[in-house]
This record gives sequence, C-alpha cells and structure tokens, in this order.
Amino acid sequence: MNGPAEPFKIKVVEPVNLPSEKRRKEAIREAGFNTFLLLSEDVYIDLLTDSGTSAMSDNQWAGMMLGDEAYAGSKNFYNLENAVKDILGFKYTVPTHQGRGAEHLMYSHLVKPGQIVPRNMYFTTSKVHVELPGGKMVDMIIDEAHDPENTHPFKGNVDFNKLQGYIDEYGVDKISFVNVEMDVNMAGGQPVSMENLRKLREFCDDYKLKIIYDATRSSENAYFIREREKGYENTPIIEILREMMSYSDGCIYSSKKDCLVNIGGFLATNNEEIFEATRSSVVIYEGLHTYGGMAGRDMEAVARGLQEGAQYKYLKYRINQVRYLGELLMKAGVPIVKPIGGHAVFLNALKFLPHLSREQWPAQTLSAAIYEDSAVRTMERGAVSKGRDSQTGENIFPALELVRLTIPRRVYTNTHMEYTANSIINLYKKRDSISGLKMVYEPKYLRFFQARFEQIPL
Ligand code: F0G
Repeated sequence: MNGPAEPFKIKVVEPVNLPSEKRRKEAIREAGFNTFLLLSEDVYIDLLTDSGTSAMSDNQWAGMMLGDEAYAGSKNFYNLENAVKDILGFKYTVPTHQGRGAEHLMYSHLVKPGQIVPRNMYFTTSKVHVELPGGKMVDMIIDEAHDPENTHPFKGNVDFNKLQGYIDEYGVDKISFVNVEMDVNMAGGQPVSMENLRKLREFCDDYKLKIIYDATRSSENAYFIREREKGYENTPIIEILREMMSYSDGCIYSSKKDCLVNIGGFLATNNEEIFEATRSSVVIYEGLHTYGGMAGRDMEAVARGLQEGAQYKYLKYRINQVRYLGELLMKAGVPIVKPIGGHAVFLNALKFLPHLSREQWPAQTLSAAIYEDSAVRTMERGAVSKGRDSQTGENIFPALELVRLTIPRRVYTNTHMEYTANSIINLYKKRDSISGLKMVYEPKYLRFFQARFEQIPL
C-alpha cells in the first residue's frame, strides 16, 4: 500500500462472523437478491454504504457525554453552528435528522411545480425531493463521467454547454436553482474542481441563478482539489472548503459521511430568505430549530466530527485505503471505474457480466453474487437505483451500471480490503456462470431499497 499507515489505534472492537456457504445462499434468497434486505448479522464485511457507518473517535465519544438534552437552546447546537461557521463559512445552520431531511426543507422551499433543477449528477433522495414539489432534476455533468475508463481528474465537473442548453430550452425562469454535488456519488465518488465551481458562480451570476451544493462529501472533494489542482498543493483543507462554499448560496449536508458520525444532517447558508423559510418549516417536519431531529449528544458528535473529518492527515489515510482496494482489483483486471473515487470503488457491471441484458439488472446480479461468494455486502448503483422516468413511467437505463464497494471510515483494516479483493477476483474468473435476475416486486419510491428479485436460470 502506498498511503500512510492509519493515523489512529483501535480502542474498541466489534466481533464479526463469516456465515457458512449454506447460510449465505439462503440469506440472499430470503432477501430477494437485494442486499438492502439482508440481516446485518449475516454480513461479514459491510461495504453497503459509507453513510452512518463510521467509527467515532474518543474525542467524539467524550463529546457525547456532554449532550445538553434541553428541548430549546441546547449548547451542542451552538457548537455545531460554530463548527459550520469555522469550517464551511456559513452563518446560518438548520439541523435535521439526516441529509434527506435537509433536502426536503431546502428543495420544497425552492422548487415550484414545473421547474427544472440542473445538477451535475442526480442522487436518489435528491431526485425524489425535487420531484415531490413538482420539479424535475436533469444531469449536466461532463461526458467523461459516463465513461468508466476515462481518467479525467475532475469527472464531477459541470458541463456549461449542457447548463446553457437547459436555460435555452426551458427559459431561465423555469430553472429553480443550480445544484452541485461534491465528490459525485453516482459517478463513482468523482470530485469537482475549484476552477469549475468558480466559473459556475460567474455563469450563474449572469443569470441571477442560485447555486445550492450537496456538500455531503465536500471534505473528500477538498482533498482531491489539494492533490490534483494546481495552486492548492499546500493549502489547508479548511481553507479549500471555505473557498468552495463561498461560490454557493448554501448547501445541504448529510453528516453521516464526512462528519464521521452515525446520524445527523443540516442545511447551511448565508442567505437570509432561505434561512427564514427553512427555520420555519424545520419545526413541522424535524423538530425545533435548535435540534432538528437530533439529540444534543448527536449534534456534539457532528460538530467535533466536522473538524476531524477535515484534517489532511486523516483524509490522506482515508482516500488511500479506498485506493488500495481499487488497485488490488485493477491489477487483477477486474473492470472498475477510473480514477478510483473518494468513498468507494465501483465495479463496472456491464463489463463484468457482458452476457446479461440490461433488463436482467447486471449490477443487482453482481452485488448479490458477491454476497453469496464471500458475505461481503455491496450495493447496486445502476438502473434499479435510477428508477423510472417521472413523466413516461419507463425504466431509465443510465450509462453507468455499477456495484459500489463503499468503505466505512476508520472501520476496516487493509486485511479486510484484501479479503474483499480476493473474493471479487475469484468471482471474476467464474463470471460466465452467474445468471441474471428479474424484478418481482417494485415499491413506488426509491425502489432499490425494497425491490425483490428472482434468479433467471442461465
Ligand atoms: N446526498 C448524497 C450525495 C448522499 O450520498 C446521500 C446519502 C444523501 C444526500 C442523503 O443523505 O442518507 O443522510 O439522508 N447517501 C447514502 C449512500 C444513503 O449510501 O450513498 P441521508
């Protein structure tokens, strides 16, 4: 491994068990071949998500004991507000129980029926929270992002021709706001460059359009800016973050990723009108504006985690662990998305299982096969996640049909990475024997969470 050794030592451990081959076969069938429906105790290494799965530090656990559980005016809220001011540079913070709570408040305030929200690339919950008030989310990421082999250093960048195209097609009044996700999840954990963010601000100023970030993985994005963008080689991560945020009108944030906590979220802004509106609606959906669905102790852990997660030394270890897993797979010829992303390694299911049609859900199939082989739990990120067109009701088959191996922060060792890589490499060798799936149950919203499948004989 090229990166540094872990900048921490382990104080508490949690036992994990490898279920037998027989149990793995049963468990994935009981779960309808959907890894979301597996029992956690049937999982050996859980790479389903990096969301809410971090190991907290002793400093965060100490903070938990200082929870001020007052209904109103908890001091932990003010610690959170100050951390957001220091690290992201936003004056106003509205706490929520997690990221989608913030999306709900922000997007239901900004989106009017019939409006369009251009975003570098959709995320599942973001798309739904734009659609519920009657809007439509459209992608405007650079074409390179749709090609798993392309090694562009900032595949999360906005394509200004696409944004201009939406303005020309719909008219500027129909654009609700412009949405940019940091370290784009569905593109493979790919960052946006500072230059792109700066230019987007100038572009949107010309049209008086607001820019709202999904800043969920902004610290990991900032690490890539420092690593890859000229002029930032020695800039502290917090300075990079503040500059990134300065080009927006506010953000939503799922604290469950870069803040190294198990639950929490917020929205933050310097815009008084957005703040007034969301501070008013938070009390209906989440809780009072000084807790928003979080316990005092959870807000303290977020405040401390936002700081810790923005430290260069930590981020270097984090990004390099993900890279270690990716490189093991790449060296063995397993098709993955390049460059290796910030929070996860993504397998290219279309290349892994070329004998399956899109209707046989290759990424869902591969994710289930990995579980059956090794009890490593991964997630489909392809057509099942993308869902149907909200107007025509047809399935959408995105260019990227991926399986995500998402690495929880500070949780697994490099030996766990090696076990995972070995199992996937073995599976790749016998890939021709893997048969596809058909969907037999489809829920109305965010179908990937609860859909069920059956195996189609080869
Ligand atoms: N935005 C992004 C970019 C996300 O990745 C997520 C969650 C959310 C918003 C919603 O936040 O879960 O706290 O309500 N992503 C998780 C994942 C679920 O596994 O990628 P939440």
